[in-house]
Amino acid sequence: MRILVVTDIHGNRAALEAIREPFDVCLCLGDIVDYGPEPGACIEWVRANATHTVRGNHDHGVAQNVTVQGAAGFRYLTAVTRPLTIQSLTPEQRRFLADLPTSRMLTLGGKRFLLVHASPRDPMDEYTLAEATQWAPLLQGLYVDFVLVGHTHQLYSLDVNGITVVNPGSVGLTRNGDPRAAYAVIENGKVELKRVEYPVEETIAALEGFVSDPHARQLLTDIYQGRGLVGRWAVGKTADADDSSTEPTG
Ligand SMILES: [Fe+2]
Repeated sequence: MRILVVTDIHGNRAALEAIREPFDVCLCLGDIVDYGPEPGACIEWVRANATHTVRGNHDHGVAQNVTVQGAAGFRYLTAVTRPLTIQSLTPEQRRFLADLPTSRMLTLGGKRFLLVHASPRDPMDEYTLAEATQWAPLLQGLYVDFVLVGHTHQLYSLDVNGITVVNPGSVGLTRNGDPRAAYAVIENGKVELKRVEYPVEETIAALEGFVSDPHARQLLTDIYQGRGLVGRWAVGKTADADDSSTEPTG
């Protein structure tokens, strides 16, 4: 069984559509929306392709009209793009986001998977790193083979006490200077972390009709091109800390 795992699409249709992997099952770990210019198309892709999807903090924020204020960085971008995202979606698309579960346990190909956007104990908000010492206590008492998470936009696979933790990175808002769309494929228990180039210029062109704020548009353009907020936010916990925390958002 070939499992495609995508997460943190963030309204970037061109990045999502560049993933041309054959798959038997597609799993989506949330954050379909916010930041990017084509959130509706991304929701429709997920509805058509993903067998199981969990809710990310940004999906929740858009579904529930959570207001974010921020003067800089990702919080600023969320503050600017959230109302635009909400405006551009149909009521049905927002209901789809609101109805997503915050976690999902399932068995595929004889392996047990836990799907959450952030972490098992705090499924929408906790920021986890690729560190076994941080993960070990979070996995205690979980009888699964795989824990699949997103949220940090950092691509990694980590074996901790017999459980494989996989973070496929971000499809639509990648970090660390690599502009490619990131995702993962799990086949027969083997994890492949992958990246694919996509027509970044399409996403940047779509921004024109989506964000009128020139500063936000420039920040997003820089991110899509692999520059911008990388230096300021790529290191440590503030890299992608969440809207609902006191840290800058990702
Ligand atoms: Fe995200």
